[in-house]
Amino acid sequence: MTINEKKQFVKNLQDGYTAIKLQVYDKRIRQDRHSKDYIELKMGDRTGTTTVRLFFDQTTVQTVYDNCNKGDVLRLEGQYSQMYKSLSVNDPAKVTKCHGEDYRPEDFRATCEKEPEALMAEIKATISGLKNIHLKSLLESIFDDEQFTQQFMTAPSARSMHHNYASGNLEHTVGVLKLCKNISGFYGVNEDLLYCGAILHDIGKTQTYIFDNSLPTITNEETLISHVIVGDRIIHNIINQKFPDFPQDLKMQLSHLMLSHHGKNEWGSPVSPETPEAIALHYADLLDSQVKKALQRKM
Ligand SMILES: [Fe+2]
Ligand SMILES: [Fe+2]
Repeated sequence: MTINEKKQFVKNLQDGYTAIKLQVYDKRIRQDRHSKDYIELKMGDRTGTTTVRLFFDQTTVQTVYDNCNKGDVLRLEGQYSQMYKSLSVNDPAKVTKCHGEDYRPEDFRATCEKEPEALMAEIKATISGLKNIHLKSLLESIFDDEQFTQQFMTAPSARSMHHNYASGNLEHTVGVLKLCKNISGFYGVNEDLLYCGAILHDIGKTQTYIFDNSLPTITNEETLISHVIVGDRIIHNIINQKFPDFPQDLKMQLSHLMLSHHGKNEWGSPVSPETPEAIALHYADLLDSQVKKALQRKM
């Protein structure tokens, strides 16, 4: 294997036999319909993510699984299926671990294609246009904290599914905000509340999504509490500490947006969206994440 081998990228994968170098994002052992174990890897490069399935004999499955770690770059040869959006490898000899000299690190580092400063400027401009003084003051106070703003501007939005790169959560937030701006006038919802919810809905990810060895990863806080709850707590704490006159009903409305933005209990929301603004935010969040997921995945 040499670094000079022409790099195949996820976005160019076609049906058929191929060789490709991919980075491991996640691994698990699954069972096929004959109850045989196989390895399912979530892998990717800077152009997107794909599923890789390794079908080996049962002893080899365990050995390969144990030896393959998150962050490893593997060279794989196998059959790619557009229909299943996955690469199947049947021969252990066709899986090779790459070392530093075998690949270019930049081929595996997805980056935000938009300028983070321009994305942040869109958020700041929205805040300055808000009419509700309570929501405006809350947002100004949050983004006056330079250390927090820096975290907000660099956090990824996911480990592998969508916006899983530096500034990914900022890009996602602005995507959700733009969708909300497009629909708010038509429906006549409370614009200030909706925009505030759009800007803050994933604020918890600044604490629960971090980079580990340049790979996006989640903290125990995400696993045990989730960014949905963490985000709501951040806002509650700031309101309680700094804004004693913040209207209780508005606080509850904002909290409802934060807590319901994933839409369903099984998707991580403790409550379902009930208000027009919460329903709009949930679908804007879902739309932005799903469109980006499809763009990042091999279509
Ligand atoms: Fe979220
Ligand atoms: Fe989101």
